Amino acid sequence: MPSAPFITLNQFIVDRQADFPYASGEFSRLLYYLAVAAKIVNRKVNKAGLADIIGEAGSTNVQGEEQKKLDVFANDQFIAACRNSGECCGVASEENQEVITFETELAQRGNYVVLMDPLDGSSNIDVNVSIGTIFSIYRRLSPRGEMAQPGDFLQPGRKQCGAGYVLYGSSTMLVYTTGRGVYGFTLDPSIGEFCLSHSLITTPTEGKIYSVNEGNIGQFSPGVRSYIAYCQTNDKETDRPYSGRYIGSLVADFHRNLMKGGIYMYPPTAKAPNGKLRLLYECNPMAFLAEQAGGLATDGRMSVLDIVPETVHQRTPLFIGSASMVRRVMDMMAQEE
Ligand code: AHG
Ligand code: MN
Ligand code: MN
Repeated sequence: MPSAPFITLNQFIVDRQADFPYASGEFSRLLYYLAVAAKIVNRKVNKAGLADIIGEAGSTNVQGEEQKKLDVFANDQFIAACRNSGECCGVASEENQEVITFETELAQRGNYVVLMDPLDGSSNIDVNVSIGTIFSIYRRLSPRGEMAQPGDFLQPGRKQCGAGYVLYGSSTMLVYTTGRGVYGFTLDPSIGEFCLSHSLITTPTEGKIYSVNEGNIGQFSPGVRSYIAYCQTNDKETDRPYSGRYIGSLVADFHRNLMKGGIYMYPPTAKAPNGKLRLLYECNPMAFLAEQAGGLATDGRMSVLDIVPETVHQRTPLFIGSASMVRRVMDMMAQEE
């Protein structure tokens, strides 16, 4: 029997043009450019042990963290993709203190801004563990044809018109949403194309996996500790204890839980009272995907997508994944307050 024909990402974008925001082809073109950058980064990631790409770049980023060579490489590739697409007037990146507003006339005509974590899971690069790229796309508020303005980057997550991630894992996947469901594409390296592999992804309402850096448990609030104790309690009826799974790459942890059902938590700690993860380019895009797949994302009090951002690199606590698990941890936190 002949196998079903591949639907490539590019073909899918063309076929589903009407599903894209404003359906003008501009957004599609931006996504196409991001996918090309993802393939270039993927090529580097796959050769990481051979190419001179492992290790520190010798610089620190905005968070004061050591930049890896691959952080810098991925950042450069995705910024170039945004600039060259002609559809993007500016980029905010984890690796750049200030937002980048493009100066070319071509880029300034672009209708979109991109916010991104070009390489997520940096601590896993050198040890051959899954890493990712996260991106979030907004329509600009400032007039087209001019420089992007700070307000273009500081919109609540609810206003995203697209978001997604690339997972450089046992296979490479690009997963995205434009607000009409979540679609996943797997890179076929033999033809160099992302091919549709997961249509309309939905996440189970209840899962059996909890993901949290338990090394920090002594710094968590009583409510979070109660929820972790709940996950670990024996109970036949609800199939507990749950499994603890924590890779330390948000993209990989999120993707596994999305597919299987589960909850990922990065609660406030004594060291990081607002949590560690960044609202605009880690939490918002994942929250958009989670809600589109039927899950939830909260900072403990409100939906992540409703937070009004004040600064580009601001952090937020994150509880994300299967809806009933997220509701339970919220209830337990509320009870302990
Ligand atoms: P990045 O590599 O982009 O700095 O992000 C790392 C993030 C996230 O991917 C991960 O879930 C989390 O940091 C892990 O933090 P801990 O090591 O504190 O658990
Ligand atoms: Mn990250
Ligand atoms: Mn990063």
